Amino acid sequence: MTYTIHLIAAARPNFMKIAPLYHALKKEDWAEPVIIHTGQHYDVNMSDAFFSDLHIPYPAIHLGVGSGTHADQAGHVMMAYEKILMDKRPDMVVVVGDVNSTMACTIAATKLTYDSLSTWDSGNTVTRGNTLNLRRPMVAHLEAGLRSFDRTMPEEINRLVTDVLADILWTPSPDADENLLREGISPNKIIRVGNIMIDSMEMLRDKIEHKTVYKEIGLEPGKYGVVTLHRPSNVDNSDTLVTICEILNKIAQKIKLVFPIHPRTRKNLEKTGLINTLENNGNLVLVEPQSYIRFMNLIFNCLLAITDSGGIQEETTYLGIPCITIRPNTERPITITNGTNRLSTLGEIEKRVEEVLSNKIRPKVIPELWDGNTAARVVESIKGLLAN
Ligand code: UD1
Repeated sequence: MTYTIHLIAAARPNFMKIAPLYHALKKEDWAEPVIIHTGQHYDVNMSDAFFSDLHIPYPAIHLGVGSGTHADQAGHVMMAYEKILMDKRPDMVVVVGDVNSTMACTIAATKLTYDSLSTWDSGNTVTRGNTLNLRRPMVAHLEAGLRSFDRTMPEEINRLVTDVLADILWTPSPDADENLLREGISPNKIIRVGNIMIDSMEMLRDKIEHKTVYKEIGLEPGKYGVVTLHRPSNVDNSDTLVTICEILNKIAQKIKLVFPIHPRTRKNLEKTGLINTLENNGNLVLVEPQSYIRFMNLIFNCLLAITDSGGIQEETTYLGIPCITIRPNTERPITITNGTNRLSTLGEIEKRVEEVLSNKIRPKVIPELWDGNTAARVVESIKGLLAN
């Protein structure tokens, strides 16, 4: 008997989380993993490029939802995915991370009742093997339990809603387990599996190391910083963006920077004309968003990262590269307690860069279970839940 498992991918940071799981499930004769792309990210370099790098097939189902306000985007994902659920009736839905589509697919799947579908075929009931006796697909959240405790972040709302509804919560670190328990979630639902993104990095390590993207853009290994910024709190307000550009221009006098620009950020830099001040700086290389392998090659060889991304805080912790996170909080505190990450206000960024340049770097401690074997642990967990 094979079980259909939907893997939901929506936006750039999702693809490296579903890829290792897709590959691991594909090896099992009881599992049929199906990639569903909601279409939240749609530019070639925000989406398609990742499928070829990560060797995952083009999504079997594409919902084509695109951009919009939060309600608009989440609503369209819910409507489109509910139709798919009714038609395909998967046994399990795996959602990853904290984007709008993660929350929307969780709501659609947990509110469904297969019994009520007029075409319900008792020979193909989803409850087969479903150890939780649900009349709907089991919903599992990979990367559950992370909390920034900042509800002005759309992702925090997505995390809270997803975790309160999902049946299974696969966590990356002990702080995530503690957050869920404190919120009253049953310990039976919580399974620590580690950080799946490290699986992708290890899977592609040879290819990442083999590239020399830094050279193509005139940089030397160990002598540049990588900048990424896309959080609305940093890039949607023009005063904040002016300050950030001034700071980057100053830092570039001390260390060369490469800045792959996210579409949200590019739009705002162009609208405000700030793009020109960056383009005119010879020590600051502006590039389009990079594919996974190319971007990781830039990270592997950099001296430091300046970012507001969640994933880069984790990747740099694993690699022992100093990371300066321009945010007042992080949902990934283990990257600070164990890793190389430091939070920074706008006013502190230059001081933090100085600290790195003068070698005040803490030694790295890789968090437990960030070992490239998370997909295997998730597969074991799914097997226990569905195929026993
Ligand atoms: C989304 C996630 C965020 C994640 C980020 C990674 C939410 C609430 N936000 O933020 O958690 O860290 O992805 O990149 O789910 N755009 C394009 N092409 C694309 C995608 C986006 O041009 O392929 C532009 C559009 O103008 C769009 C804007 O970027 O309106 C923002 O896209 P959206 O998906 O809403 O949020 P992100 O900022 O990408």
